[in-house]
Amino acid sequence: MKNNSITSGFSRLDKDQKINLVSSRVPESGLFGKTLLETQHRDPRAQKLYDEFSENTLGNYFFPYGVAPNFLINGTMYMLPMVIEESSVVAAASGAAKFWAERGGFHSEVIGLEKIGQVHFTWNGGYQLLNKLFPEVRKQMLENTSRITSNMMKRGGGILSIELVDLTCKIPDYYQVKATFDTRDSMGANFINSCLEEFADTLREFAAGNAELSAFKLNVIMSILSNYTPNCLVRTWVESEIKEGAHTYDDFYTDREFVERFQMGVHIAQVDRHRATTHNKGIYNGIDAVVLATGNDFRAVEACGHAYASRNGEYSSLSRVEIEGNTFRFMLEVPMALGTVGGLTHLHPLAKLSLQLLGDPSAPELMMIASAAGLANNYSAVKSLVTKGIQKGHMKMHLLNILNVYLATEDEKKQAVVYFKHEKVSHSAVSSFLESIRH
Ligand code: MEV
Repeated sequence: MKNNSITSGFSRLDKDQKINLVSSRVPESGLFGKTLLETQHRDPRAQKLYDEFSENTLGNYFFPYGVAPNFLINGTMYMLPMVIEESSVVAAASGAAKFWAERGGFHSEVIGLEKIGQVHFTWNGGYQLLNKLFPEVRKQMLENTSRITSNMMKRGGGILSIELVDLTCKIPDYYQVKATFDTRDSMGANFINSCLEEFADTLREFAAGNAELSAFKLNVIMSILSNYTPNCLVRTWVESEIKEGAHTYDDFYTDREFVERFQMGVHIAQVDRHRATTHNKGIYNGIDAVVLATGNDFRAVEACGHAYASRNGEYSSLSRVEIEGNTFRFMLEVPMALGTVGGLTHLHPLAKLSLQLLGDPSAPELMMIASAAGLANNYSAVKSLVTKGIQKGHMKMHLLNILNVYLATEDEKKQAVVYFKHEKVSHSAVSSFLESIRH
């Protein structure tokens, strides 16, 4: 129901009042309220925890929590927790994981763990003067943040570098303090942002108190971490010998033909941004599902990955294929800032248990695990695309959703699953089938 009036004081209403108000905005107001109530956790303390993750919480929005077994990564076997609503993702990840587990599994290495933050400011006194005094500013920044950094330093992390960057070629008088951080097993957003705001205060105070600088104008615009962390990077790959029967599902292609088609499939995603976007989306099907299941920030991980995919000026595939003699190698290089402590990781009950299921990994280990999920989903998708196409498998997995749309009974679902073993699944085919058995 359209209502353009401004809502004031909404956050101060209690939950029931909020539900009533929101329900009144939809035609099926009774159903909305009832459905929201049905999503409440039966333990009020648990519900309060979920409510407090966010603001104006009315209920819980259920997503499937599943697992993909048989992920052999650097010799350790994992069962991957995955939170995802798309029907074929867990099946695709599991299928690829088992396939590669029988061929040595996933190999993975973390190339770097560096995070980045920036203080953006304007200054009309020129670079030379600022740069001359910057070593002193940097010293004071380190001193002033020691309260914030002491615990992180005990864990082996902290501030790695602080530099002045002249960006006046892009915007007149625009400079940055660019800092790098090692946040160990935490994603580190709060740590970095606290340091940056302290840097900004230090910079302001230094400029105001210094005789040479105070003659000019310094204006801090904003202080915030960058979600682009190209040096917080993981590389994961699978490799196998090219020999008959090693990859193909069917007799249609020889193994050599298959790997060459696969390589071409990936190559197209390297040169065409339309295909690259879908190709990388398939990678994030796996990565996001693990990132969500472990209470991490999938928006940050995706934003970073897509920026990285454009690092050479053209948006391109995050994965690549090498065929050397008789060796097929499929590799994914992807940046991601993950945490296994802090944030929701130990507050969300299922995120905490997901981490336990993974053996309480460190952040670098979780990067390797999530990237293996990405590579597995990418392998399954490209393999299907360059062989039998994805719709057959995809629609088979989607069958239950379609049956649910048509309110099929359990018995009708059983009959449909048998019938569609050998028939093409589509909305109209399912609808006709249901009509035929209902009459
Ligand atoms: C669907 O969620 C993902 C795919 O489109 C990925 C791809 O095309 O590579 C199958």
